[in-house]
Amino acid sequence: MNLLSVSHINSGYGKNDVLHDVSFNVGEGEIVSLIGPNGAGKSTALKTVFGFLENRKGRIVFSGKDITEYRPHQMPKLGICFVHQGRQVFRNMTVEENLLLGAFTDKKSEKNIETVYRMFPVLKEKRKQIASTLSGGQQQQLAIGRALMLKPKLLLLDEPSLGLDPKTVKLVFDKIKKINKTGTTILLVEQNARMALDVSNRAYVFETGKIKLAGTGKSLLKNKNVQRLYLGG
Ligand SMILES: Nc1ncnc2c1ncn2[C@@H]1O[C@H](COP(=O)(O)OP(=O)(O)OP(=O)(O)O)[C@@H](O)[C@H]1O
Ligand SMILES: [Mg+2]
Repeated sequence: MNLLSVSHINSGYGKNDVLHDVSFNVGEGEIVSLIGPNGAGKSTALKTVFGFLENRKGRIVFSGKDITEYRPHQMPKLGICFVHQGRQVFRNMTVEENLLLGAFTDKKSEKNIETVYRMFPVLKEKRKQIASTLSGGQQQQLAIGRALMLKPKLLLLDEPSLGLDPKTVKLVFDKIKKINKTGTTILLVEQNARMALDVSNRAYVFETGKIKLAGTGKSLLKNKNVQRLYLGG
């Protein structure tokens, strides 16, 4: 069953549409990736799903409910959380304060901090440390951990591997698989197409605001055009 279904959406900034007639869906329990070059509209697609941008045409349905007109503040309650590109953390707060803020819309969720610490032991170890003093990889784990405080049904992840060294990229992708195994559906945007396709059930290739190609992660890894354009070979 589709958890998220995005049909024929157009959206953008100011008067200009960036996305043109974009449709994709995410099945319950899947990892689905959106890949494609810089400026193709991948982040715009996530921002539109989350209600930061007005969807000018088309429909977004989550868990059978039409959420086309929903705004960002309504998303956590539905079970959708968003980790933005550039791993935004509250830089002057401690790790623990950052995590607790993840539960501010639902105080009862504060108890989930132990589950988040089990997923990211480094955050427990550094729980009293100021977020700005964490390494890039630790900050990314914190940003994801904060989103997990609400135990989302659907996690939107925008470029979690950006700017991280290969070993940390691998760690982040391992965590993505693990989070998915605990029952969280994931919609992932990634520049690192190889890693993304490798962990994804399915993926969509964006180009200048349109979907050019779709398929299973495995089939896209073998696709000659995808290999030439996005996999460096
Ligand atoms: N706040 C904004 N105001 C105006 N135009 C924007 C804004 N954000 C993005 N755009 C434009 O929308 C287009 C798509 O951008 P988007 O950020 O969705 O691309 P992307 O696929 O996520 O790229 P990247 O891989 O570089 O993150 C680009 O042409 C970009 O310049
Ligand atoms: Mg982006």
